[in-house]
Amino acid sequence: MTPTNETPCTSSVPAPLGPRDREPDCTLDALTLQLAPLLKDGAGRRGGGSAKVAALLREYAGAEDSWRRYVNYRDDTYSRNLIWRCGDFELLILCWNEGQASPIHDHSGQQCWMAVLDGELEEVHFPDLGESGHGAPPVPGRIKAFPQGGVAFIDDDIALHLVRPKAGQQGVSLHLYSSPIDTCRVFCPESGVPTAICAGYHTVRGEPAEGVDPELIRAAWSGSKG
Ligand SMILES: [Fe+2]
Repeated sequence: MTPTNETPCTSSVPAPLGPRDREPDCTLDALTLQLAPLLKDGAGRRGGGSAKVAALLREYAGAEDSWRRYVNYRDDTYSRNLIWRCGDFELLILCWNEGQASPIHDHSGQQCWMAVLDGELEEVHFPDLGESGHGAPPVPGRIKAFPQGGVAFIDDDIALHLVRPKAGQQGVSLHLYSSPIDTCRVFCPESGVPTAICAGYHTVRGEPAEGVDPELIRAAWSGSKG
């Protein structure tokens, strides 16, 4: 996942935003229908499903611009904007302002694909830091740039990572998590010490969701079918 630790886990706002609240979106809804059989019951982990998933995301990123209605740049943090969620996967659009970056984080044992919709994003790998960190700043490993249309994949067997836009640029990316990731660990950039965080949403299908308990949103989507 790509978490933001700015989003609270609890709120008094009783306003779940579920699939019935969403406006139809032909191309993104079509993408979710194409992804569903590839990710059903963890199928993306077997039989080359991951390559097919990446191909679908690459095709969407290269041909469609329906994502633009969900662009949501913020000054305080990059934004997490929910597009679709079901038992097998979750699809989000993340918007990165110049100079913003995710924390170093893991992926809670799940798979994550990232397709660049706009701008150029950088992914920085870090080795596993264990349960307590190493007491020193984590040492970056591979740094790779992904241009518009590029697709990255990561899971916990590959590395920890952080994501950021190229210096001086904004960026927009489409993130697919299978299964959905509700909590993960972020790692202190000074000590490597991990902290468990709860992932939240700034918008749901374009509707403001800041301050809404993410568990209410997840519950509202719990019956949705891939
Ligand atoms: Fe991530």
